[in-house]
Amino acid sequence: MAFLKEDKRTHYCTELTESDIGSRVTVNGWCAKQRNLGSLIFIDLRDRSGIIQLAFDENTKQDVFETASTVRTEYVLSASGVVRSRGADVNANRATGRIEIYVDTLKILCTAETTPFEIVDDKNIRGDLRMQYRYLDLRRPSMTENVIMRSKITKLTLDYFHDHGFLYIETPDLIRPTPEGARDYLVPSRVYPGRFYALPQSPQLYKQLLMYAGFDRYIQLARCFRDEDLRADRQPEFTQIDLEMSFSTEDDIMDINEGFLKYLFRQLFGVDLTEKFQRMTWREAMERFGSDKPDLRFGFELCDLTELLRGTAFRVFAGAIGAGGSVRAINVKGGASFTRREIDSLGEFAKSYRAKGLAWAKKANGEVSSSYAKFLTEEENSAIYEKMGFEDGDLILIVADKNAVVFDTLGALRRECAKRLGLLDPKDFKFLWVTEFPLFEYSEEDGRFYAMHHPFTAPMEEDIPLFDTDPGAMRARAYDIVLNGTELGGGSIRISTPEMQSLMFEKLGIGEEEANAKFGFLMEALKYGIPPHGGLAFGFDRLVALLLGYEDIREIIPFPKAQNASEPMSKCPSEADPAALDELGLIIKPQK
Ligand code: AMO
Ligand code: AMP
Repeated sequence: MAFLKEDKRTHYCTELTESDIGSRVTVNGWCAKQRNLGSLIFIDLRDRSGIIQLAFDENTKQDVFETASTVRTEYVLSASGVVRSRGADVNANRATGRIEIYVDTLKILCTAETTPFEIVDDKNIRGDLRMQYRYLDLRRPSMTENVIMRSKITKLTLDYFHDHGFLYIETPDLIRPTPEGARDYLVPSRVYPGRFYALPQSPQLYKQLLMYAGFDRYIQLARCFRDEDLRADRQPEFTQIDLEMSFSTEDDIMDINEGFLKYLFRQLFGVDLTEKFQRMTWREAMERFGSDKPDLRFGFELCDLTELLRGTAFRVFAGAIGAGGSVRAINVKGGASFTRREIDSLGEFAKSYRAKGLAWAKKANGEVSSSYAKFLTEEENSAIYEKMGFEDGDLILIVADKNAVVFDTLGALRRECAKRLGLLDPKDFKFLWVTEFPLFEYSEEDGRFYAMHHPFTAPMEEDIPLFDTDPGAMRARAYDIVLNGTELGGGSIRISTPEMQSLMFEKLGIGEEEANAKFGFLMEALKYGIPPHGGLAFGFDRLVALLLGYEDIREIIPFPKAQNASEPMSKCPSEADPAALDELGLIIKPQK
């Protein structure tokens, strides 16, 4: 039926309150539920704000009552009437639970077929159906609320950075590849057959060029594209709050961004985070938590047992130490409650992090049981217990291996145990700055160095002499902001001279020719007066998800990709039209 001026809403459903009692109003929305009690009909009407009850009774005009009796779930309605009290019949679970609209005019704007699932929050709906009918999934009140909150956080973000002198500047999406460590999405060029644009993994080089151009403070909600394996906190396309500042130090950048996060908490939750966020070097984070993004909501810190066990006869520990690795452990307080089976599953968990095994000891009701104690001397065992403060109720988990494996495994076990013990309160927000990251990461597989952050990150001044002697030990002027075990964002002070940039490329095995071909424009630009500058990018999806208490970022992305990088609703990616391929000069090789 045609939608006329008089059908237009005067209020969103939940804008109505008891102070509107007696007013005539019009609402527009979907039928969430219709109950026909014979002489009474109730319709729950839903719009993006929430639900209000529409009421019809024997005094309602007959044609209106009849229309109401034909309304089914998800019909689209316009209803007008007078707001009245529900009297004693209060629905305490609803903002509008004390009122209803006594309808005198009802128009069915559109009918609907039965939906593949019920549009409610409290039912478990199959994930693939949610993806296939995303527009219906988004009608569910919790999903609607997530999208609205995301919009609100977008506005707060733009307000904050605008108020701090940042200019919103767009950067291109069809670019030369920017190395951030993932695979690029390539876009073939029609004008230049055989050539490709890349979609940006981030606007990194463009924001640096904006600093070269003098814009001084830049911000963008930037879409980024990375062809990598998906996880709960990773999508192939995602959004960054991307920013860059000239004439600033690490502290300036961290302070501005810390201020931003505090502003969000104040505006969203009315919470004042008064304390300065904790800061920790990368080295300390690894030593204490086995992770460069430690979750600080619980303890179970790593303890190095290497010195204590040097000279042990137990071949597993001795072997790791002898090979230059280490033996480290965590004490999981309360972990003695885990059954043998649960501990075995922790062992399997450890193996998924490349650990060869997991040694454990637990003390319950004064009784110690252990997988390894029999292989150690009495002295070695007591020394471990003493060093780890082993008490009743504790579970000690030990990993012996190369350092990288030990850190990785214990870091993950720490969190897994905390999860199993119910210690991960999503409403407890523990922020942390991790600083002084290594400049390089050595890949044994490829026998070469990679940039740990990206190749434009400046080394720490005092480590520059190590370029020639020990590049692996060099630290970067890079920092990450971490929240509850998630890397929310990362950034660095950038290289600002052509000499340093060439040196960096050289150490990364990017020869002069390749550097010129890929980054010639940057090398040229670096000649013309470059301000000191640096920046940061937040994963906007991760930020919104954590603020709203979700682990999976798909809950706060309206149209995410599925785990296999496809979009089940529109069925993309799809095959290209042969004529389009021809125009692009592309031939698809048959896939095995
Ligand atoms: P980085 O690569 O660390 O830095 O990315 C910044 C932040 O983006 C988020 N993120 C992702 N979120 C969802 N899905 C993904 N696939 C994904 N990948 C990354 C993370 C991460 O911390 N140009 C630099 C920033 C800078 O130096 O200023 C950059 O992109 O939360
Ligand atoms: P095994 O002699 O291989 O049965 O090992 C004895 C104990 O040491 C078992 O509890 C194993 O799980 C444990 N273990 C084996 N390899 C490692 C390792 N790399 N780190 C820690 N514990 C290990």
